[in-house]
Amino acid sequence: MMKRVLLSLVCCLLSVVALPSELSFKVKSKYLNLPISQDAERRKLTFQAKGVDDLNVVARLSPEPDYWVFKDLTAYKGKTLTITFDGPEEALSLVYQADTIRDAQKMYQERNRPQFHFTTRRGWINDPNGCIWHEGLYHLYYQHNPFEREWENMTWGHATSPDLLHWTEQAPVLFPDTIGTMFSGSAVFDKDNTSGFGTKKNPPLVYAYTADRSDKETQCIAYSLDGGMTLHKYEGNPVIDSHDKWQTHDTRDPRLFWYKPGGWWVLVLNERNGHSIYTSDNLKDWTYQSHVNGFWECPDLFPLPVDGNANDVRWVMYGASNTYMIGSFDGKVFTPESGKHRFSTGTIYAAQTFNEVPDGRRIQIGWANIDHRGMPFRGQMLLPTELTLRTTKDGIRLISKPISEVTSLLKPLYSSEKALNGQEVNKALQPYQSQDCVHLRATLNLTYATSAGLRFDGQTLVDYDLNHNTLNGQFYSPQDPTSLSLTMDIYIDLTSIEVFIDDGLYSYSMERRRAINTPQRPVIKGFEVWGTDINVTDIQLDAVESCWL
Ligand code: FRU
Repeated sequence: MMKRVLLSLVCCLLSVVALPSELSFKVKSKYLNLPISQDAERRKLTFQAKGVDDLNVVARLSPEPDYWVFKDLTAYKGKTLTITFDGPEEALSLVYQADTIRDAQKMYQERNRPQFHFTTRRGWINDPNGCIWHEGLYHLYYQHNPFEREWENMTWGHATSPDLLHWTEQAPVLFPDTIGTMFSGSAVFDKDNTSGFGTKKNPPLVYAYTADRSDKETQCIAYSLDGGMTLHKYEGNPVIDSHDKWQTHDTRDPRLFWYKPGGWWVLVLNERNGHSIYTSDNLKDWTYQSHVNGFWECPDLFPLPVDGNANDVRWVMYGASNTYMIGSFDGKVFTPESGKHRFSTGTIYAAQTFNEVPDGRRIQIGWANIDHRGMPFRGQMLLPTELTLRTTKDGIRLISKPISEVTSLLKPLYSSEKALNGQEVNKALQPYQSQDCVHLRATLNLTYATSAGLRFDGQTLVDYDLNHNTLNGQFYSPQDPTSLSLTMDIYIDLTSIEVFIDDGLYSYSMERRRAINTPQRPVIKGFEVWGTDINVTDIQLDAVESCWL
């Protein structure tokens, strides 16, 4: 009996605590600042105002915040906004509007803020979405949770840049709705206004994205008439619902492009066990054409000339984990000729290439799930790379190199062409050991078929084993199979490291780990090469300038 009374008392108390709390006010400022604790439970948070779609998310609002996030209030300006929270009132009562983001004065100077990679000001990011160049700006949209530094509430965040390095974060553009949360997708410039969303004079940018719901995923479109800054969802959404056909929840990540030879739009969609091709004349009505098995998530499909020869163009079909096939494409069917191959490993995932790049380069940007310990944000984009197709000893392969713009960030520190032995290199590089953001290009030459490598602050960046022919555990054989040399192009930011081998034939990325210095295991600061009787040639060491200062 006593137990029952106690139980009902606890239930009663709980229901009092869980009562939705409410806050209503006239929006006068640009931002709403919200207190977040990773220890608080996720509770329903609702935003309602006349003339703006209701927004339902979950958030860890807390009266004892670890950090603050913000919501852009532009869409609510002058309106009465009602916020309902299914959690403690003391948490909601701390929420306030202001023209500044809380702690903005320290923004981009935080201890673990990447200095030459894109990160969001607050919250979580994953896949790049809607990558496109338009009227002088690169647009990078991305999977975003503005309400905490973990995955949830998928929203499209947005950033713009003139050079793919210096980014300005803009207000998010797509928010969860009743069709689903906003999963990955892409963007095209509909210059002939085939969709009718714009006018001949002001043609639209058109976006395709997945709406994810617990029962199914469907494909939707949206458009922008102001150069990608605000998006409008099409009232006829969803435009593709293939759930019943594929008997799966997993149909997502539409990748749009214009197929010039045929004069129609193509949408590549991951469905169940591979990528499907759909075509359309107006970006609204889609016809299924074909399917290629063997991929999961985030399709990409693009043409590239082989060795720069415009008369020998191949198509690359790509999946989320950097596996790709090379083949031909007639606008409706992709026919694989070789694959699957992989040119990059490590933290890179869900990379997407940009549409409409004015000089025709195929530029790719990938996501890395980097923690940035202790920061109010998580995840980053890796360096944008230019993709090309080259004939190699193994056949035609993708080559990936940082875009040439990256060199504008490099400030020379040291260089040497002549061969230095291990001890000499370590000594030569020692004066620069406290550089935090650094680039090193060098050729490592072995003389024994054993192993050699390179560490930075005690972390292994290169571990080349010529007995097993492995590079950091992955099989690697240089173009000249008898070569004992390896050219390394290494970019070190505060929390991540990218390594490009032999001019982009193979690359990998990793989290930068700050090794703990103990008397038993002292950490050697800066670069340290190792290996029996090795030497290093063509050394170029640079500081990498911050993109935020
Ligand atoms: C890949 C992915 C996509 C999906 C998105 C959701 O990382 O799972 O397939 O659209 O992330 O955030």
